[in-house]
Amino acid sequence: MARTSDIETAASVLRDGGLVAIPTETVYGLGANAEDPAAVARIFHVKGRPPSHPLIVHIGGAEQLAEWVEEVPATARLLAEHFWPGPLTLVLRRGRRVPLEATGGLETVAVRVPDHPLTLALLSAFGGGVTAPSANRFGSVSPTTSDHVRAELGDAVDFVLDGGPCEVGVESTIVDVTGEIPSILRPGGVSREDLEAVLGYPLAVPTTSSVRVPGQHPSHYAPRARVVLVEPEKVIAEAQSAQEHGHQVGVLLPAPFADAPVKAHFVVALPDSMAAYARGLYGFLRELDRQGCDLIIASLPPEDGLGLAIANRLRRAAGPRPSPGNAQQ
Ligand code: TXA
Ligand code: MG
Repeated sequence: MARTSDIETAASVLRDGGLVAIPTETVYGLGANAEDPAAVARIFHVKGRPPSHPLIVHIGGAEQLAEWVEEVPATARLLAEHFWPGPLTLVLRRGRRVPLEATGGLETVAVRVPDHPLTLALLSAFGGGVTAPSANRFGSVSPTTSDHVRAELGDAVDFVLDGGPCEVGVESTIVDVTGEIPSILRPGGVSREDLEAVLGYPLAVPTTSSVRVPGQHPSHYAPRARVVLVEPEKVIAEAQSAQEHGHQVGVLLPAPFADAPVKAHFVVALPDSMAAYARGLYGFLRELDRQGCDLIIASLPPEDGLGLAIANRLRRAAGPRPSPGNAQQ
C-alpha cells in the first residue's frame, strides 16, 4: 500500500507531464494532468487507444464540477450530490479548461469524483483534474489490483499508486446529462435502480449492440480466451463437451451449481452476491487466461442491480473480436 510520501511523488509526476496509475473504487486508472495535451496524448499511446475515444476527467469534489463544464444542469447537480464520491460519471458540455485531446474531439466531457482515499488525497495535493481511462491495453480486461497494472503496462507508467484491490470491481456508470432526459451510456457501479430512486422516473436500459460513443465497441473488456455465453443450466454440459473437443476450458460456474462436479481445465465457482461477483469479475477472467484457457464458458446473471453491469461486460467480452492487424490490442 502507498505511503504519504507516495502522494507527493505521484503529484509531482503529474505536474511533470508523467503518467500515474491511480486506484479508484471501480478499477485502476491511467492518469495524466487533464490540462496537459502532451501528457494526455501519452495515455492514448501507452494504451494503444484510438485518439478519438474520449477519457474521463477525475476531480476532487462535486463543488469543482463547474470549473470543468460549460454549465451544471439541475439533474447533474442532483446526481453529483447523491453519488459523489462514487462510481458515477456524468457527461456534460465541455468547459474551456478541458483540452479536446481529452474528449476525443467531442464538445462534451465525462467527469467523476472517485471514491478512494489515496486518489482523493492525490487530487487534493495535485490541485487539478486527472484524466484517466482504465489502466489496461485497449480492449482488454480492466485492472483491479496494482499487480494487474504492473503486469500489463510495466515501465510505460511512471508511477503506480498502490491503493489495494478495488472495492467495486466494474467501471463507473456513465450518464449523459446534456439532454432533456438523462440516459445511461454504460451501466456500472451505481445501479439503474439507485439512479431512478433519486431522479424519480425510469431510465432506459442501454443495449450492448448500440455503439453510442467512440470507445464503446461490442468487443471490449475481453480476456485472451474466447468467451461463450450459454444459459446457466447449460454451463456444465457445454464446458464438458468443449473440453472433450480438446479445448482448455475455463468455467465461470454460476453460484447455484457451485458444488457440482465439472470436467474443465479450470473452474471459478462464482460468489452468491452480485457485489462480490462484480469485485472479482476481472480478476477471474485474468486468472482463466493465466491458467492457459482458450475458451471460457459463462452465463449472464439476472440483469438488475450490479448484475446489469456484469452482464454488459460479459456480453462485450463475448463480442466479435476484430480481425488480426486491427488497432485493438
Ligand atoms: O470507473 C471508471 O469509469 C474508470 C475509472 C478509472 O474511473 N474509468 C474508465 O475509463 O472506465 P475508460 O476510458 O476505460 O472508459 C471511459 C468511457 C468510454 O467508454 C468513453 O466512451 C466514455 O467513457 N466517455 C468519455 N467521455 C465521453 C463523452 N464525452 N461522451 C460520452 N462518453 C464518454
Ligand atoms: Mg476501459
